[in-house]
This record gives sequence, C-alpha cells and structure tokens, in this order.
Amino acid sequence: MAMLVSSWSKDVYSLPETYVFPPDQRAGDLIPLACNNPIIDLNKAVDNHGRSETIQQILKAGREFGFFQVINHGTSQTLMNEAMEVLKEFFDMPAEVKERVFKVDSSKKCRLYTSTLNYDTEEVHFWRDNLTHPCHPLEDCLQLWPENPPRYREVLGKYSVEVSKLVLRILDLICEGLGLENGYFADELSQVQLLSVNQYPRCPDPSLAMGMHRHCDPNVVTILKQGDIDGLQVFKDGQWISVEPLPNAFVVIIGCQLQIISNDKLKSAEHRVVTNSEVDRTTIGYFIIPSYECFVEPAKNLIDDCNPPIYKASQYKEFLGTYAEKIGEYEAVMECYKLQ
Ligand code: OGA
Ligand code: NI
Repeated sequence: MAMLVSSWSKDVYSLPETYVFPPDQRAGDLIPLACNNPIIDLNKAVDNHGRSETIQQILKAGREFGFFQVINHGTSQTLMNEAMEVLKEFFDMPAEVKERVFKVDSSKKCRLYTSTLNYDTEEVHFWRDNLTHPCHPLEDCLQLWPENPPRYREVLGKYSVEVSKLVLRILDLICEGLGLENGYFADELSQVQLLSVNQYPRCPDPSLAMGMHRHCDPNVVTILKQGDIDGLQVFKDGQWISVEPLPNAFVVIIGCQLQIISNDKLKSAEHRVVTNSEVDRTTIGYFIIPSYECFVEPAKNLIDDCNPPIYKASQYKEFLGTYAEKIGEYEAVMECYKLQ
C-alpha cells in the first residue's frame, strides 16, 4: 500500500515530482470566490407557498449549475462540527494506526487509500487521501468502520443517519418538482449509501498539484460538507468557479444518474478540487448510489411525444464500468447512454 499523503506531507517542503501535473491539467490562476453560488434556505419550505418556491429554486440551480448549497437544513451544527473534528483526528493519527484500518478489513468494504484506487498505474498522483465505507443500513455497517478515534462510530453513525434523512428530503422536493411519484428515490435508487471522506493536507505547491481531477459524480446525488476552507470548483459556462465555503451549509452535487432520470432537466456538475498551502482541508461526502443491479432510465412521467427520452436504460454496474474507462470525460460517458 502506498503511504497516505497525510502521513508524510508534514515533513516535505517541496512538491515531489510524481505530484506535478502537466500545465493543461493544473489549477491555473487563483479564481476569485464566486458570489453567485445558488444557496437554498430549506427553512422556507415549511409552508405550501414556500415549498413550491424552494422546489423551483432547486430545479433552477440543478439545471443551470448542477449543484446548490443548502442552509437551515435542520442538521445540528454541533454534530456537523463533531464529525469534522473526529475525521481530522483520524487523519492526524500515526501512520501505523491508520494502516491498521486496511488490515482489519480484508473484504475492502472500508477503504483507506491515497490519490485514487489506481495509484500503482496512474502517472501523476492527487494530493489527497480518502476513507470510504458503507453506511446503510447503519446496523449492518458499523462493525466495518474504523475503531479509532474512539468516538468515530458514535459520531459518524449519528451524522450518517441525519445526512441520509436530509438528502432523502431533498430528493423528495426534487421528485415533487419534476412530477415523479412520491418515494421514487427511496428504494433501489438509494440502496447504497457511502461516506467518503477526503483529506487534502497543506500542499507545498498548489499551483502544480491537484486534489482531485475534473469529474462528475457517477451516482444519483452527493451531499458534501466542505467546511470553511475552499477548494471545490465547478465548471460553469466555460470556466471554473469556486464553491463558496459556507461553514453551516451542505453542498448538493447532482450526479449522472439524476441527470439521466430527469431526462436532462437536471445536469450533473463537472467539478474538481484544488489544494492550498495554508491549512489541511477535510471534506465529508455522502453518496446516494443505486443498487449495482438496478436499471436506471429517464422517468416515465417525464416522457411524452414532445419530450422523447434522451437516454437509454442501463444497469448501474455497467454505467460504472464505462465511467471508470473514461474517467474525467463526462461528455463522452453520457454520450454512450444517449439514444440515437
Ligand atoms: C468527491 C468530490 C469534493 C471535495 O468526493 O467526489 O468531488 O471538495 N469531493 O472534496
Ligand atoms: Ni465529486
């Protein structure tokens, strides 16, 4: 196993060559923080009028940006902060303790790795570590999770339950807005739920390195807590815009499957992550994923003579295969599933 970057980066003062990206794939000049990020106040959705207005805002943001941030979402701020603290503690643990996380889980359901799962074959590495494990149903997953720090299972368990409820609530609003039957996403389309934590340590040269390459999330939807440090950028109208770090917000990123189901009424956001030289950045992603056997297609309610289906039905595991083959080529992946 390659050493986690969080285990050695504190001792290096220049960027190792294997982390230097070719010029056309680097972050480029610093991008000013965009102030036009779509922000949705979920408190407003409590009465009927507010609810339909909120739904319209979500659909507009999903169509134009492929992402939005939610505030006043009901998840306790204390719990969000605690989750962040525990995860920072996790990545600050000595290398030997972190490495035990691999050894206990030979089935690799709980994965801790650096850069990408293709570390041994990739030409350049990303300046990030990742910890991913399943979360749903919680009682079946808990024993796979790291045992250290000692609060890990308790805090992240509570966090996963809250975030899962929140994301399903947001999917309900999307359902209502698109005119899909109630609970459209509740079953097979959200059967797999993963917590995916990214650690981007302080980087000696952010202008040459990348935290994550440009990509779309292949799943239904991702809800990300990015904390108060920026680094996430979305490709919008031909340029990269920064996603403003709002400490109490979650970023909701539309994935490829939601784009297919909505028949392009919602677009998945192409995004990437840049590093910084000041502080370590930790982000907590929560992925809503279809079962691997599930066939995903444009929702029947959205199809009529004037609105023919844009995509064919495809099994999620097959889609993932194409996604892995054409990593970073969002248009090319979606093209494979277009009709005609
Ligand atoms: C991801 C992702 C963004 C971030 O995990 O797919 O895009 O800021 N993360 O960590
Ligand atoms: Ni992503």
